[in-house]
Amino acid sequence: MDDAEREARRLKREAWAADNLGRQTRVMDDLGGRAADPLGWLAVRRQASSYLRHLQSWQRSKGFTGIHAMLDAHEAGLRDWVGQAEAALVGVDADERRDAESRLGIRLAVIGKGGAGKTVISSTVARMLARRGRNVLASDMDVNPGLSYSVGLKGRDVTMPLEVLEENPGAAYGWQLRQDVLPREVVEKHTVVGPDGVRVTSLGKIGEIDKESAKRTVVAMIQTLLGFGEPEWDVIGDLEAGPTTPFERYHAFADDVVVVVGPAWRSGMTARRLLPMVGEGRSTTIVANRFRDEPDHPGLAPHIRIPFDDEVAEAERLGLSPIDECPDSPTVKAIEQVVELFVSQSQEVSV
Ligand SMILES: Nc1ncnc2c1ncn2[C@@H]1O[C@H](COP(=O)(O)OP(=O)(O)O)[C@@H](O)[C@H]1O
Ligand SMILES: [Mg+2]
Repeated sequence: MDDAEREARRLKREAWAADNLGRQTRVMDDLGGRAADPLGWLAVRRQASSYLRHLQSWQRSKGFTGIHAMLDAHEAGLRDWVGQAEAALVGVDADERRDAESRLGIRLAVIGKGGAGKTVISSTVARMLARRGRNVLASDMDVNPGLSYSVGLKGRDVTMPLEVLEENPGAAYGWQLRQDVLPREVVEKHTVVGPDGVRVTSLGKIGEIDKESAKRTVVAMIQTLLGFGEPEWDVIGDLEAGPTTPFERYHAFADDVVVVVGPAWRSGMTARRLLPMVGEGRSTTIVANRFRDEPDHPGLAPHIRIPFDDEVAEAERLGLSPIDECPDSPTVKAIEQVVELFVSQSQEVSV
């Protein structure tokens, strides 16, 4: 690529980034326009803060020199939403506020090396949250997908449909979420309802019929999860293994990150590389999975331990959901601790 080509590409990226700010503004107007109680304003504050974090950690670092003024104005607009939300929350009494905070919803990215157990944990956490009466969106962000099986949909195709996508020459892989579709409309109308009412979506598979399909959905999925700020929804992202996904900001939507480590040495190495990349003020929780009696990885003391269990391995081998097939297995029981941790955190920590 020569300099002229590189500059042409940068300009396309920059035009796309500018276009994307308009989407964020529409999301904020939609969410802010409906905020009528403390819960609604907590959601507004969280959504604006989430976009602000993305602005700092990603958009600001991309060399979009031609839109600096636009980025500054956008940042000011987001800060204004935070200010409005805070003003609306000032007079709320402590009990009411705690109640609203507990209903706000969890936004969790599950990362780690391939085979560590991300999919088993994501799917089981999603089902458990739904059984507690919560609204849950579970997204398979791995192009070697498995969430549809583990969640109990027996491999049903849950790929984000083409009708919510549009081409944009500046978006990574050339596609994005349609500008006239709000993220919450994608969740309401274009996701699959699984057992216990869990909403499921995915990037789709690489290869097979349509080689490009998983690439087309990547940016749209990130835009959807990042912009889906409905207050009473939990969002779980089952990320692709390895370091490219944090680099591409798959976890941009998340306030909390679970790093799953298996007993293998390389699993620990991957976790150590991932942790500083995904942190950025997010809570990070190390979950050791599939351990029998192997020692912990040095420097990666687990917050939660999930034991190896043959029944889970067998359920998964058959393409069935562990929570349906072996609800009393030690693995499933231990995953309940992950749910407890985040549900109780959302009651204590204000965002
Ligand atoms: N605690 C566990 N006990 C037994 N088998 C497990 C456990 N956790 C995961 N597995 C098995 O290990 C394999 C990898 O798990 P998976 O959740 O697909 O990992 P990832 O999504 O991180 O690649 C699967 O075959 C799964 O059934
Ligand atoms: Mg997986």
